[in-house]
Formats: sequence, C-alpha cells, structure tokens
Amino acid sequence: MITYRVVLLVGLLIYSTLSSKAQEVDGSALFTTNCAACHTIGGGKLVGPDLNGVLDRHNKAWIFRFIRESQSMINEGDEQAVAVFNENNMIPMPAIPLSDIEIEAILEHISSKGEDTIETKLIDEKEKESIKPYTSGNSKRKSQAAQNTSIREGMLIGLWITLIATTVMIIGIAYALKKHPPHKRKE
Ligand code: HEC
Repeated sequence: MITYRVVLLVGLLIYSTLSSKAQEVDGSALFTTNCAACHTIGGGKLVGPDLNGVLDRHNKAWIFRFIRESQSMINEGDEQAVAVFNENNMIPMPAIPLSDIEIEAILEHISSKGEDTIETKLIDEKEKESIKPYTSGNSKRKSQAAQNTSIREGMLIGLWITLIATTVMIIGIAYALKKHPPHKRKE
C-alpha cells in the first residue's frame, strides 16, 4: 500500500522538476543559436547592426515583429524598418519564428549585455563570409550546426528523462488502480 504511494510521489516529483527545467528559456543560448551569427551585443557590426541598446532605438512590439517578419515591414514601408534595411546595405534579415517567451528572453539577455561580447567577437571573418543571409536562414543554420549540437543534445537528454519519469508515473498510477480499484457506485 505504501509502495504505490511512494512510486507515485517519486514519479510526480521527478516529472515536475524535469518538465519545469525543460521549459526554462535561456536567452543567452537562444541568442547564440539564432542571432550571434549576424549580431553582437556591444562588439560592433557583423552582418547586421550591433544590438547593444536596440531597445532604446525601437519599441518592443516593433522588435518582436521585426524578428519574425522584417521583410513584410519593409514592404509595407515601415519607416524604421526601411531605414535599418538601407543602412545595412539592403541585406534582408531572415524571418526567425520564435515565440514571445523566447524573444523576451533574448531581449533580456541583450539588455543585460556584455556576457556574450567576447564569444561573438571570436566569430572570425571566414565564418562571416560563409554566412550568406541572402540565401535565407538555411546556410546560417548549417554554419552554426556544430555549435548548436551540444545544446540540442542537452535538450534531447532532458526530453528522454522526462519521458522516463512520465512512464514511471503512469506505472505508479496503474499499480495504484490495480490495488485499489475505484469504488463502484451502488445502484
Ligand atoms: C542572417 C543574419 C541575421 C540573423 C541570423 C539575425 N539577424 Fe537581425 N538583422 C540582420 C540584418 C542584415 C539586419 C539589418 C536590417 C535589414 O537589413 O533588414 C538586422 C536587424 C535587426 C534588428 C534591427 C536593429 C536596429 O539596430 O535597428 C534587430 C532588433 C534584429 N536584427 C534582431 C535580431 C535577433 C534578436 C536575432 C536572433 C533571434 C537576429 N536579429 C538574427 C541580420 C540577421
């Protein structure tokens, strides 16, 4: 009787800890994966402008939309978007479909700036050349593939552990139900 409760409790505990870990968004990692190929924070211009102080240049709603669909904004003639586009040799920024939470985390990382400055400076000229933004985001993703593998692997391991924890929990519940079938209502 005690066994099933323990199994259930342990399963639940592992599940809740791990699933909350899996959902944590790391602005710094997201920036490295999605933005660092073209942007620095205080390290100067790469393919795109230095994002240091970007929150002072544009409002949040503008930045959110720009990250997801800068091209539509430029096509619509949004003044700020057109200006940024022209200032950057008309190199389009690829649309990056991130969630609100992810963009929020990236912006937080940008305003707490500096952390990535040394790392982003290490992106050498060769890599910059290999990133051809004109051919959409794919080439950039490839060039960053190695860098991203470790992050992906970590996420995969997390997912597996969550899956195992869920299984343990389900077994616990099944065990409990078998031992103590729900009382049938008397007709
Ligand atoms: C493939 C290169 C590339 C990647 C990757 C990229 N950008 Fe850009 N970004 C640009 C370019 C180029 C511009 C200049 C605007 C234009 O030409 O449309 C720009 C402009 C911007 C601007 C406007 C900056 C300003 O000073 O007005 C913001 C904000 C921005 N990017 C955020 C991001 C964020 C956040 C990410 C990651 C989620 C990201 N970008 C990923 C190339 C890129």
